[in-house]
Amino acid sequence: MTLQDHHGRRFTYLRLSITDACNFRCNYCLPDGYQCSDSTPHLSVDEIRRTAMTFARLGTQKIRITGGEPALRRDLPEIIRAVASVPGIEEVALTTNGWKLPKLLPAWADAGLTRLNVSIDSLDPRQFQAITGHNRLQDLLGGLEVARQLGFTGIKVNAVLMREHNADQLPRFLEWIRETPVTLRFIELMQTGDNHEFFQQNHVRGEDIKAQLLADNWQPVLKNTTDGPAQEFWHPEYAGRIGLIMPYSKDFCQSCNRLRVSATGQLHLCLFGEQGFDLRPLLASDETLDDAADFVRHCLDDKKATHALHDGNTGVRTHFAGIGG
Ligand code: GTP
Ligand code: 5AD
Ligand code: SF4
Repeated sequence: MTLQDHHGRRFTYLRLSITDACNFRCNYCLPDGYQCSDSTPHLSVDEIRRTAMTFARLGTQKIRITGGEPALRRDLPEIIRAVASVPGIEEVALTTNGWKLPKLLPAWADAGLTRLNVSIDSLDPRQFQAITGHNRLQDLLGGLEVARQLGFTGIKVNAVLMREHNADQLPRFLEWIRETPVTLRFIELMQTGDNHEFFQQNHVRGEDIKAQLLADNWQPVLKNTTDGPAQEFWHPEYAGRIGLIMPYSKDFCQSCNRLRVSATGQLHLCLFGEQGFDLRPLLASDETLDDAADFVRHCLDDKKATHALHDGNTGVRTHFAGIGG
């Protein structure tokens, strides 16, 4: 059976956060001085396995492990293995800032990781450091090479373009994917409760990037009904693709295919659904997994048609690390 909401959307994809801690300080994401939100322990490997079992019963086929930075958990290989071993879960994906990628990726691949998304907000080392607070660009690019050697395909690279920080990098990014077979995704900067001024100064409209791509002969990739909200483009002269994640466009949420579970076991119906539903008590043993599945199905009744960002809703109160981006 597949989970479906009142708006006819099907949910076969779970974003599962395993920590809200991060070792980078990306200027658009974490405010200065941020500490993990509370002292509640993160889900254990057993609770994570049960989360995966619960969602697999509900038709979930893909689980993306997110954070914070998931690689900060030393038990990440066990987590990947636990999720990958659940019948019905066909894809185990990871979103990472790429920290220690060359060193750690082989163990993740061995544990069953099938997909990889990495954030690279600039190809200029100094700009990269200014945005993230770390001088790790070369490690990251080396990590992508290791990923390709390990046989990963469909690697996605995320960049949040910001007017005053890296928007000038667009031509360099495009040049890079001429020969680099990754999907490079530009994510519109989103307004959160603690970045109002930053947002006003730096938001770049995805529609403007799209207009430029279309003028340069990039072709829209036709979407399947199960694909998420990103729009993709290809070009005959480029090895890579472009993806646009444009949450400010009106129809973005129509193709929503994902639910979220936070690192402390709260079910979030939306990136902007700050109020979580506490799934954790039902993850304590294998005996309560039917109840956990019923609980998720019941909560889904509350999922709204859209986050309404395009109507001036400002999104989340604080920032995204807590519910996994
Ligand atoms: P795939 O699983 O490969 O489709 O990619 P994804 O876009 O779901 O995953 P990724 O973790 O790479 O997402 C990158 C960023 O896109 C997130 O950190 C969010 O900022 C944004 N994003 C992903 N899903 C959503 C969503 O449903 N709504 C909004 N507004 N933004 C999202
Ligand atoms: N706007 C857009 N994307 C954000 N991310 C975090 N905060 C924001 C924001 N305010 C996402 C980016 C980044 C990932 C780690 O988190 O996609 O690549
Ligand atoms: Fe789905 Fe919320 Fe993302 Fe819209 S913003 S696509 S409703 S999770």
